Amino acid sequence: MITIKSAREIKLMQEASQILVQARQALFKMIQPGISTEALDQHADTVIRSLGGIPSFKDYEGYPKSICTSVNEVVIHGIPSSKIILKEGDIISIDIGVNVKGYHADSAFTYAVGNISSEAKQLLEITEKALYIGIEEAKPGNYVSNIGHAIETFIKPYGYGIVETFTGHGIGKELHEAPQVLNYGPKNQGPKLKPGMTICIEPMVNLGTKDVQVLKDGWTVVTKDKRLSAHFEHLVLITEDGCEIMTTLKE
Ligand code: MF3
Ligand code: CO
Repeated sequence: MITIKSAREIKLMQEASQILVQARQALFKMIQPGISTEALDQHADTVIRSLGGIPSFKDYEGYPKSICTSVNEVVIHGIPSSKIILKEGDIISIDIGVNVKGYHADSAFTYAVGNISSEAKQLLEITEKALYIGIEEAKPGNYVSNIGHAIETFIKPYGYGIVETFTGHGIGKELHEAPQVLNYGPKNQGPKLKPGMTICIEPMVNLGTKDVQVLKDGWTVVTKDKRLSAHFEHLVLITEDGCEIMTTLKE
């Protein structure tokens, strides 16, 4: 069942989203060669809690840290560590979840560490664009599947691999709710969007093939070919006439 959020629930998710944006901005300023992903995690935890939120990912199904930091060939769910030090030319996907009074927000961006290759730059640009192409389909009366179809249609000409084994999702009281929001697939299938639904759209796009594997830690998802991967995610609220991106800075 896809839940429709009440005005109160939406307000809490908006609060969570704004705390998330503050944490994102604080971490963005820290990204530079020499910093560990552990330091990013610690700062995110501090910022989120100081603003009255709880990091959604901490202890989620046993996840050990407060954010996910996925460097280079790591697609998602990279575990922050004092041993992982950013270096010039890396890319890092930072995925943040915030819980306010039982309601979640979830968003991810991929960043360059210093100067990156032109192929990495294009991967980031195109994956972020794909997110916004997907968001354009997030409107009442439209099929959820049209989001993924639009993303796939946009990505295809670049020859990138779209990750299929992880997807976007509904969100609210649970971090992951119905519906699944695929980043590929046919048009006009399955459920339709309605005002008050809240979904996370999150293309994960690989420079090489779509194939991924999970490392022995049980979390870290890497590309099989070890080539770069990018991830952009926003939480959006379906409104009467389209959608509102919740995980951007509001006045
Ligand atoms: N943003 C991630 C997702 O949508 C959540 C991270 S999973 C966690 O799947 F386990 F790390 F919390
Ligand atoms: Co998500």
